[in-house]
Amino acid sequence: MSQIQETEVLREWRQSASYWQKHIGTIHTMFSPVTQALIEDAGLKEGDAVLDVAGGPGEPSLTIAEAVGPTGSVTCTDAVAEMISAAQSEALRRGVRNVTFRQCAADSLPFESRTFDAVVSRLGAMFFPDPAAALREMLRVTKSEGAISLAVWDKSELNPFSYVVTNVVSRYIDAAPADPNAPGAFRFAEAGALAQILKDVGARDVEERVLKFNIAAPISPKEFWEMRSETSGTLREKLATIPPHRCELIEQEVQDAVREFFPNNQMQFPAQMIIVTGNKAS
Ligand SMILES: C[S@@+](CC[C@H](N)C(=O)[O-])C[C@H]1O[C@@H](n2cnc3c(N)ncnc32)[C@H](O)[C@@H]1O
Repeated sequence: MSQIQETEVLREWRQSASYWQKHIGTIHTMFSPVTQALIEDAGLKEGDAVLDVAGGPGEPSLTIAEAVGPTGSVTCTDAVAEMISAAQSEALRRGVRNVTFRQCAADSLPFESRTFDAVVSRLGAMFFPDPAAALREMLRVTKSEGAISLAVWDKSELNPFSYVVTNVVSRYIDAAPADPNAPGAFRFAEAGALAQILKDVGARDVEERVLKFNIAAPISPKEFWEMRSETSGTLREKLATIPPHRCELIEQEVQDAVREFFPNNQMQFPAQMIIVTGNKAS
């Protein structure tokens, strides 16, 4: 990987990239309310130049590229080359042309200061090794008065998309409790935690809101299990430690446990995320 030190977290994401590409349609649909919230909270408008940090296989970059129109542009970045290739393929497939791609780590953005009207990141900040350094970089490349908007998971216990699976898996596989300050999906689930870092690095008018929405997509409980067990590096690694027949028991139990969230055999989990937005001082 060019110039980027491959941490344990990035290794997991590199190994996850092909699965995120495989499930790209479902991921696009189920998190589209989060993208809309970022577009609103960052105040994105036609003609804006927007940076997406940790854009994975292309969202929210590609939806934002459509929102800012042909006079605007999006730069989609991610630390993992395989995610960037997946994003490029998806842009070609969807015919989105006003987006460029760059492999880079969030805490070392290869752009001039004050380049972008706004900077966004969907479900990225909690994985950065040094979140303050990353947010400082995002602020550096934002123009005066420009916005930074970040979406992160709220607590696992508020998100059945997460806890229904982890509750079942924990009955089969012992695992040490995760360090709440280490990179991980729920690292910024505590109210105010990410907002405080954005204030500390110098953003002004920092605000935080809870986004309640439905994680919805036309998939069955079986397809849900396939998507969850493939796209989560943590889950893949846990499942790899047990024999196949135990995995099958987990799969069956998860499908039974999630069924109440699949009216008409279609996924619909109530969900909660946190959106933090601040502005660069002039
Ligand atoms: C949960 S995915 C989110 C992807 C996409 N934004 C989305 O919402 O679908 C997290 C992404 O963060 C990227 N990532 C992790 N650490 C990073 C870092 N230090 N710098 C840049 N990207 C990073 C991973 O490669 C992965 O693509």
